[in-house]
Amino acid sequence: MRFDIVTVLPELLESPLNHSILKRAQERGLLHIGVHDLRAYGLGRHRQVDDYPFGGGAGMVMRPEPLAACIRQMQSERTYDEVIYLTPDGTTLNQALCNRLSLSENLLLLCGHYKGIDERIRQKFVTLEISIGDYVLSGGELAAAVLVDAVTRLIPGVLNDETSALLDSFQDGLLAPPVYTRPAEWEGMSVPEVLLSGHEKRISEWRHEQSLERTRVRRPDLYERWRESEEAP
Ligand code: ADE
Repeated sequence: MRFDIVTVLPELLESPLNHSILKRAQERGLLHIGVHDLRAYGLGRHRQVDDYPFGGGAGMVMRPEPLAACIRQMQSERTYDEVIYLTPDGTTLNQALCNRLSLSENLLLLCGHYKGIDERIRQKFVTLEISIGDYVLSGGELAAAVLVDAVTRLIPGVLNDETSALLDSFQDGLLAPPVYTRPAEWEGMSVPEVLLSGHEKRISEWRHEQSLERTRVRRPDLYERWRESEEAP
């Protein structure tokens, strides 16, 4: 799977995309990430990429020409399943959307800055607008890194133990159960007996009950949805 990310701050993406699971996935050839500096498509001697908003108001808006030139260059090199603009007014990212995106071959991600990108770019090129939550970041880069991370863990072969993505919170619509490691006794607190029993069936039942209880208490919205899906024929 391949992500191409268009940004005015390529350095901001360097570290998050080059460690741990994302690093290993790239080394194994399961993931390719191209980071493209929009400034290379900027206008004039100063490589300008933004300008004042028509109608006035604070902040700058990203001009359409550099973005269009960059997107067209990318699209001349490969076909994209989606052209995604990271923006707080997009569809909120969730596990179902990550699952869907993990089936893509190529995704083009556009990171906005300042007050956002000229609306005409959204109309002409963008096929999907994604927010990572109801808060405003300084730019789309960290949101793009979140998207790449969440989607990459779902690509077959990326995680060592493939079942571990299946056990992530949200993967079955429930939150994950609590986890423990050694020591079995720590500062007067002990690990639930069942986890030490070696009894696989009981352990898996216990984990399921804990998942259900955690979801019911912390995320009643998810719990209701899960119950409805279990009741469906
Ligand atoms: N850009 C700024 N804030 C954002 C958010 N919450 N999600 C995605 N992109 C953003």
